[in-house]
Amino acid sequence: MKRKQSLFSRPKASKTKPSKTHTDYPEILNIQALSHEGRGIAKHEGKTIFISGALPGEEVKYQLDTKHRRYDEAFCTEVVTASEQRSKPHCDYYGQCGGCDLQHLDHTHQITTKETLVIDQLARLGKFQPTTVEAPINSPSWEYRRSCRLGINQLTRDGSAIVGFRRKGSSKLLNIKHCPVLEKPLDNILSELPEILETAETFKEITHAEISMGEHEGALTLRIKKRPSEALCERLNQLANKHNFKLYFDHGHKVEAYEGEAQLDYPIPSTGTEISFKPGDFIQVNAQVNNQMIERAIQWLQLNKNDRVLDLFCGIGNFTLPIASQVDSIIGIEGVEEMVDRANLNAKQNLLSNCEFHKANLTNDLRAMPWYKKGFNKILLDPPRTGALEIIKQLKQHSPEMVLYVSCNPAALARDGAELIEQGFQATRFCVMDMFPHTSHVESLILFERI
Ligand SMILES: C[S@@+](CC[C@H](N)C(=O)[O-])C[C@H]1O[C@@H](n2cnc3c(N)ncnc32)[C@H](O)[C@@H]1O
Repeated sequence: MKRKQSLFSRPKASKTKPSKTHTDYPEILNIQALSHEGRGIAKHEGKTIFISGALPGEEVKYQLDTKHRRYDEAFCTEVVTASEQRSKPHCDYYGQCGGCDLQHLDHTHQITTKETLVIDQLARLGKFQPTTVEAPINSPSWEYRRSCRLGINQLTRDGSAIVGFRRKGSSKLLNIKHCPVLEKPLDNILSELPEILETAETFKEITHAEISMGEHEGALTLRIKKRPSEALCERLNQLANKHNFKLYFDHGHKVEAYEGEAQLDYPIPSTGTEISFKPGDFIQVNAQVNNQMIERAIQWLQLNKNDRVLDLFCGIGNFTLPIASQVDSIIGIEGVEEMVDRANLNAKQNLLSNCEFHKANLTNDLRAMPWYKKGFNKILLDPPRTGALEIIKQLKQHSPEMVLYVSCNPAALARDGAELIEQGFQATRFCVMDMFPHTSHVESLILFERI
């Protein structure tokens, strides 16, 4: 333990509920554990207090923020006894920005802490534990994001631009000049966008920006209520071109290129697959973790030329296409039509004739779908945060040997895993993935095998 360390974060108290004094609490609390969203957990006379910015093993002073019947919320104002795992936050916006709020925990311990938290949730909520816990999939600490979404506001007071992410605990935007988790070209756009916007008298028609980087080029997509003046469009286009991006406008109902389409694609080196995408498509934000995740998925599924695979929530074919070359056939299912079209195009471009893609809402009853009636012996699931319970309940009739679940929400994974176990599977292999370093988000990969 290191003694007495200065305050790293002092987030604003919630405005919705007034701060309360804590006369009935001790001045210093011991932190016993970390909550799944990255706050320190302390107990006082049976009540739980979640303290943001505090780590297990620490003694901290704190300010109570919001009181609830069963627990209270607070933020750390002074670290009296610091954990060995405490690290000095690297980013200037730490404590104000709603993004990377785990920076006070050393990067190497972030992923091991997340691993413990997920395993705990699986045991507590799902009542199961994986047979083997394998090494986490690691990420570079900084400059790992190849896509992001930025909020844009124009201040009425002086017309200046606010470009950045939401403030911690608030829906308000924080003006950000640099973000160290973004790949360099994205960070350059973030830094220079405000001064370009401010050359126009008004840019209130631009509500946010989405920036994504492919292997060759990037796309700067501005969500607009109406088209900006031609002069502003031209300057935005110059900014995009300067950093090897193409400018797009997203009108809500359609996305149009301002001056030619960007060549947006990324490689999957282990299988020699090239994946093309368009602005607005879902892509995995961390390229290095994505490549390792696909390699591990292929290895765990023990693919062979007799396998008939179903890839549910397939997006533009991120798993489907690399898997296709190893198996007899694979079908990918996705809810967004444009992504289904892109996936089919990607199959053609990669000369893959044994994969097909279909559009379906995977929360619906799918038993009448022609693709559903085909047999599959291995299934991959990569659902959004809400999980995949509806479709898992409909998988029974396929009796797959293996289900590989890619999860971005441990609570949904615990619930869905419990259903798979009920259906006769065993959770055999598990690992966490450091897809979003310095945030409390955690991705995991878990293999269920029929007993
Ligand atoms: C976590 S992403 C994974 C995409 C892809 N597997 C990848 O690795 O890039 C989840 C995908 O599920 C799709 N999706 C979300 N809800 C869906 C639903 N109810 N039915 C079908 N697809 C859905 C999203 O459009 C998104 O492409």
